[in-house]
Amino acid sequence: ELPFAESWKIKMVEPIRKSTRAEREQWIKEANYNVFQLKADQVYIDGLTDSGTGAMSDRQWAALMMGDESYAGARSFYELKDTITRITGFEYVIPTHQGRAAENVLFSALVKEGDVVPGNSHFDTTKGHIESRRAMALDCTVDEAKNTQLEVPFKGNVDPKKLEKALEEYHDKVPFIIVTITNNTAGGQPVSMQNLREVRAIADKYNKRVLFDSARFAENAYFIKTREEGYADKTIKEICREMFALADGMTMSAKKDGLVNMGGFIATRWEDWYEAAKKFCIPFEGYLTYGGMNGRDMAALAVGLDENTEFDNLDTRIRQVQYLASLLDEYGIPYQRPVGGHAIFVDASKVLTKIPKEEFPAQTLTIELYKEAGIRGCEIGYILADRDPITRENRFGGNDFVRICVARRVYTDNHMKVIAAALKNVYDRRDEITHGVEIVWEAPLMRHFTVKLKPI
Ligand code: F0G
Repeated sequence: ELPFAESWKIKMVEPIRKSTRAEREQWIKEANYNVFQLKADQVYIDGLTDSGTGAMSDRQWAALMMGDESYAGARSFYELKDTITRITGFEYVIPTHQGRAAENVLFSALVKEGDVVPGNSHFDTTKGHIESRRAMALDCTVDEAKNTQLEVPFKGNVDPKKLEKALEEYHDKVPFIIVTITNNTAGGQPVSMQNLREVRAIADKYNKRVLFDSARFAENAYFIKTREEGYADKTIKEICREMFALADGMTMSAKKDGLVNMGGFIATRWEDWYEAAKKFCIPFEGYLTYGGMNGRDMAALAVGLDENTEFDNLDTRIRQVQYLASLLDEYGIPYQRPVGGHAIFVDASKVLTKIPKEEFPAQTLTIELYKEAGIRGCEIGYILADRDPITRENRFGGNDFVRICVARRVYTDNHMKVIAAALKNVYDRRDEITHGVEIVWEAPLMRHFTVKLKPI
């Protein structure tokens, strides 16, 4: 048998540049030890996010040229809408400029003060859009997700017992249940079809609707196909239809599994949700047939959604992430196991064991990795967790990860080798890293983007 190789070849390249350790030490200091404040030119391999960082295909670039920029009724909108309806079964579509805008528009209609929105590890913007409305995002993820060394296939699942308890307790205050596929915060971990069915059954019992935060739904479908019994012979598109049949609607950041650099949408089967969201789309985003998007971007997204719900494209992508994980295995570096779809989540609490949580181990490791080789990961840990909205205490209850994302169709396996080797170098001198960082300034919400830090 021949070895595995990518299901595409490269038509255009973008130079990247290395730097010296001395340069990086200066730059990270100027960036207040916050990698979001680095200039991209100061980064060699960028694993900050897989959001909007992917490479479009020749077909997507060709579709851009065919975009219809009409203010109302653009052909590109209908192409996008038809594609979304074909892949998800949802009839009503509202384009938005990105995922959080979809959240803002829909939640403006659905979430009010005092509400409780149960789900599996709400992403930070999702949590932000719930908490800024003085509602509560209640995390009902399975406990297995916290134990990074436990090898279970669907660590992103909702715990049905926790969900049912939440519905018992807050019944009237729950506007909908949210399921994030894949579960980014827990490590790009998938949710099984079985679990989606269980959530649906509980929702039906309490007469609630289910919203999928679908940023990485295609990767979730890939894991269902490759890990869940009964799905090996189904196509990704068949699995997607089956997943979305269990939901009432979706918010989408198209910057991930839509394979575009900007964009998002809301889609739903319910006219009342559509009507309610429409009212907020027009003032916040734009008229209904473009929302926050150019016609050309909607055209490229329609192609991207189609391409990324084909097995070969997903197989190429996820195998690369798994290749990076296999190198970490070789070096004994602990990460959220098994590796998920879009990134490695290094378990900083198991690496920098001499740094107390009050000194933010994952942020410290992120800085060390940058200084080592110009590799930009990001902290998905105690800084990102923000403070409790009521007590204002730091939330130390979750995991403290360094996430190193793999952009779609951008880097080669050689870049993966560099990332792994740089991590190993830091890992080998982990016992010499005894001091973390402290916060000098922070925003009240979503502080990780702008936080200013200094080494202790
Ligand atoms: N939901 C999930 C699960 C996400 O991962 C993101 C973004 C969003 C919603 C918001 O979408 O960025 O288009 O507004 N995640 C990016 C990340 C930023 O780096 O994980 P957006």
